[in-house]
Amino acid sequence: MKLYTTISPLQQALKIEREKGFKIGFVPTMGALHEGHLSLVDQAASMCDIVVVSIFVNPTQFNDTNDLANYPRTLESDRSLLSKHRCEYLFFPTVEEVYPEPDTRIFDFGNLEKVMEGEFRPGHFNGVAQVVSRLFSIVLPDMAFFGRKDFQQLAIIKQLVRHLNLPVEIVPCEIVREVDGLAMSSRNKLLLPEHRACAPLIYKTLREARKLSQIKSVDEVKDFVLEQINASQLLRVEYFEIVDDTTLVPVGSWLQPGIKVGCIAVFAGKIRLIDNIIFNIN
Ligand code: PAJ
Repeated sequence: MKLYTTISPLQQALKIEREKGFKIGFVPTMGALHEGHLSLVDQAASMCDIVVVSIFVNPTQFNDTNDLANYPRTLESDRSLLSKHRCEYLFFPTVEEVYPEPDTRIFDFGNLEKVMEGEFRPGHFNGVAQVVSRLFSIVLPDMAFFGRKDFQQLAIIKQLVRHLNLPVEIVPCEIVREVDGLAMSSRNKLLLPEHRACAPLIYKTLREARKLSQIKSVDEVKDFVLEQINASQLLRVEYFEIVDDTTLVPVGSWLQPGIKVGCIAVFAGKIRLIDNIIFNIN
């Protein structure tokens, strides 16, 4: 695995790979890698000839300076994890390399950015779109791999690619969980032991909610989720919404057509965790 911290040598190397006719798969990350990220790398390796991973903690997508400062940075262990998987290129740029001047672009994702994460993390998706569009124009991948764990981010990226007509195929990847059901996240490392112990309640409740959806209304299921999770003194639900999987518009009834996804954000102490579940599959 070759490590690049600057754009131009990486682009030269990738140009040569492209000239050989190799298909380039790209996995953008913010590091502190875990099995969730690595599953994206494996998926890329199974579909592409060359796998490029980026590790860049993107300041423009953090709306909380403490969150940015506390975000785990673990380059050496990330490299060692990646070396056990098929990753040919690791891109680890500085902020100045990615943003030689401030990115002033404002994207409009309509409803996709107004609900859920968009409502509670203003500016977050604009920052994600800034960095992902920049990384795409640096790497010029044929395919890019994103986890369903960040369900709304995936919807935003798909729309970004459609609106900008980018020649990249977005490949959604399944959520990887700990054995107790907690969705893997770089932020899990920051949980205090007592919060870590309660956190599996989130996915357990989502699974129960999915079962309940066969006999209860959308509103009743939403109330159930809030009550169950907030009953734990250590967890506090920020939002729980049941939305259409493409428009992200909250659904009012199970009878509406389309796939419905329950999306949740929960504070476990100071750490914010997100998760989601598809309701149509039992
Ligand atoms: P990060 O949180 O590091 O996640 C990188 C990728 O890994 C995202 O596509 C995310 O959905 C996926 N991922 C994280 N946890 C996962 C899990 N448990 N199962 C499956 N996939 C998982 O998302 C970002 O970084 C950034 O916003 C980024 C897209 C890199 C832009 O800065």
